[in-house]
Amino acid sequence: MVKELDGIPTDVATVKKLDKAHVFHSWSAQGLIDPLPIASAKGSYFTDYEGKSYLDFSSQLVNVNIGYQHPKLIAAIQEYAAKMTTIQPAFANDARSEAARLIAELAPGDLNRIFFTNGGAEATENAMRMAKLHTGRHKVMAAYRSYHGATAGAITMTGDPRRWGAEPAMPGVVHYWGPYLYRSAFHSSSPEQETERALQHLRDLIMVEGAQTIAAIILETIVGTNGILVPPPGYLAGVREICDEFGIVMIADEVMAGFGRCGEWFAIQHWDVTPDLITFAKGVNSGYIPIGGVLINDAIAASFDQRVYPGGLTYSGHPLACASAVASINIFKEEGIIENARRLGTDVIGPELAKIADRHPSVGEVRGLGVFWAVELVRSKQTREPLVPYNAAGKDAAPMNEFAAACKQRGMWPMTHFNRTHVVPPCTATEQEVREGLAILDEALEVADRYAS
Ligand SMILES: Cc1ncc(COP(=O)(O)O)c(C=O)c1O
Repeated sequence: MVKELDGIPTDVATVKKLDKAHVFHSWSAQGLIDPLPIASAKGSYFTDYEGKSYLDFSSQLVNVNIGYQHPKLIAAIQEYAAKMTTIQPAFANDARSEAARLIAELAPGDLNRIFFTNGGAEATENAMRMAKLHTGRHKVMAAYRSYHGATAGAITMTGDPRRWGAEPAMPGVVHYWGPYLYRSAFHSSSPEQETERALQHLRDLIMVEGAQTIAAIILETIVGTNGILVPPPGYLAGVREICDEFGIVMIADEVMAGFGRCGEWFAIQHWDVTPDLITFAKGVNSGYIPIGGVLINDAIAASFDQRVYPGGLTYSGHPLACASAVASINIFKEEGIIENARRLGTDVIGPELAKIADRHPSVGEVRGLGVFWAVELVRSKQTREPLVPYNAAGKDAAPMNEFAAACKQRGMWPMTHFNRTHVVPPCTATEQEVREGLAILDEALEVADRYAS
């Protein structure tokens, strides 16, 4: 039974009718979609109006790291809402100050200041602007296999096909190939070779673009939507070295990989590398209220001590969002959520996916860490031909759509992208829930196997 709320019609037919008539959805042909109305959510599950529950192996858009409706987080939001719901960014605010302190304390090195945004795109957009103003240079290098958000600069930095609709886009973004051993752009046969060649490729691009024109190199510490690509040993340290050599700002986009997803507060802590700027959003408060930000090191922050930073947002450092970030970080600490995510990766997801890869002809590779894993589906393990083509749609995407439908029918909501399914449950998921989801994945893969040899 769905509880009636003042002024919000909650019967499913009305919800669907109003959605169809008035809501314009992201990344969609409006006439071709039929959004599933969700009635409620709790822990690792959400439930539709017919009472069917789904174990969420997508964490929505890889953001509900703390799970749904965490009672302490809800209580903290309610409590702060009763105290203050908004105050503009020019004032100081207790929740904002404490959120900034907590996040800076968790970050590596001298990333001590935070510019708060409403989400990930505004974070990468502002990181780029800071890097340009700090260096006095105008170009940014970004990976082809990347997503950085959908505002003008962020979508230009994005390397995946979501950029195409925004082109011709902002001038001054140069794309590069990052490491991806399974489909190496450099024909490498070992992680060491991939690191060496990917770094040489960056150096070659810097040479021909002119180092003195390049403000920043942005990368997702672990590439998220575009494949959960864990960088090979030495790659991030190598990028750091190149940035130092040429005076380029290193931006780690941790909007998806940060705040527990990879079993650390920040994914970059796996490699002991300190970037100059880190962007974050999603997991910082699990999207209970929109918030994101840029962590800024002392040198870049000092660039704006005596000169104005030309950027701002009405809701920068929104008190309620900041209060929820404070509460979420404290809950993570109290409940050992980072440790849970790490252990799920090493003890459950990693070993179980390895067995699944052995069993299924359609599984070419599994990779990841923490609660951030990809299962790459192929037509043949030998040729590595993807189960569906790059950016497949319509009939071409049928094998992936059938696989996803098989998961949903069994009560697990997968996150599929191109020829991959990502295993990205909440960081709070229990071992039993994860095993339940992996068992469904195992069964549903029989659908993909029919297309594989
Ligand atoms: C790595 C990365 N950066 C930036 C963004 C954009 O974040 P938002 O959708 O909050 O603007 C995303 C969103 O998925 C992301 O995964």
